[in-house]
Amino acid sequence: MAAYEIAVFAGDGTGPEVVREGVKILGALGEGGPAPWRLTEYAGGGQYYLKTGREWDPSGEAAARRADAILVGAVGWPGATLPNGDIAGRALVLGLRESLDLYANVRPCRLYPGVRHRISGEYREVWAPKNVDMVIVRENTEDLYTPARGRLTREGETEVAIDTRIITRKGSERVIRYAYELARARARGAPGDGVRRVTCVDKSNVMEGCRFFRETFDRIGADYPEIVRDYAYVDAFTQWLVRNPEQYNVVVATNMMGDIITDLAAVLQGGMGFASGGNIGAAHAMFEPVHGSAPKYAGKNQVNPFATFLAIEQMLRWLGERHQDPQMIDPADRLDRAVALVLRDGSARTYDQGGHVTTSEAGDVVAAAIRSEAR
Ligand code: IPM
Ligand code: MN
Repeated sequence: MAAYEIAVFAGDGTGPEVVREGVKILGALGEGGPAPWRLTEYAGGGQYYLKTGREWDPSGEAAARRADAILVGAVGWPGATLPNGDIAGRALVLGLRESLDLYANVRPCRLYPGVRHRISGEYREVWAPKNVDMVIVRENTEDLYTPARGRLTREGETEVAIDTRIITRKGSERVIRYAYELARARARGAPGDGVRRVTCVDKSNVMEGCRFFRETFDRIGADYPEIVRDYAYVDAFTQWLVRNPEQYNVVVATNMMGDIITDLAAVLQGGMGFASGGNIGAAHAMFEPVHGSAPKYAGKNQVNPFATFLAIEQMLRWLGERHQDPQMIDPADRLDRAVALVLRDGSARTYDQGGHVTTSEAGDVVAAAIRSEAR
């Protein structure tokens, strides 16, 4: 069988540093035979825009569309702004979500043993790893992110700025169905009680779009009688998430609320350095660490590459499931074991974990763990 084509966009800032480690890890996973994937890197992002006046290499867009999967590092660079005010590099993240219709943003939130939290300036182990194991599924194409926005100006002065919140039947149905299917496929339910539960996070006590989203959640839920339906208003959800993460198994939310709650959830898993996301559509998927380009840390070989490793694990598993190919599930499992081992023994603690290991050393440690298991 031909190798899977993976289009890689390292992007801006720390993006290339974490992607370099990701490529290293894929190299280790692919040893001992012809790798079942082929990586091709393409230039793009805000820094590329400043140099060239284009958001990405012209071959990049076609490559993204053709590829079996896409891996993105991060985009965004100070001063790199498109004429309309959008960030340059948007094409690689928001643009791909729109153009490839990547409707489900799937963000696992799992705490590995050995990972610390930084809370009130101190590094501690705050949540029990056995209590944090959920997936947040965020709608990824509409809501306040719909490009239906603008300004009303009078004589050059902005009078009104408008963003439109659009919630559609199709957009809601497919992401909600994705969440139920995920709950069905996950062998384990919520860590606290083992119950297979999908929690709908919304603000349906106020907003019409949320009421519609919740109605859709109930209607689609009728097809999944074995999955328990659970509801939370987004404001209350933020405190329950922190206080009782063990209640949550699969969570589904609209785009903007999903954006906010997934960053909060990242604190439970040790910070943004561990937060990965899959942007999944019917025919395409893009995987990324969620932390962004972190310009302040760029070029310092300091940031945590684990979010990228976890994004790669998600990507391999998605390819394996989509193509029913055990050749891709096996490296995903091996990567998960190597990550868990290294995090448990604390040998790859980067600065965000209170450690001194560099980005590239963390990659070396995980690559070595992969190799030593293979031997
Ligand atoms: C995310 C990010 C993006 C978003 C930004 C970079 C546009 O915060 O993936 O969560 O808002 O979706
Ligand atoms: Mn975000």
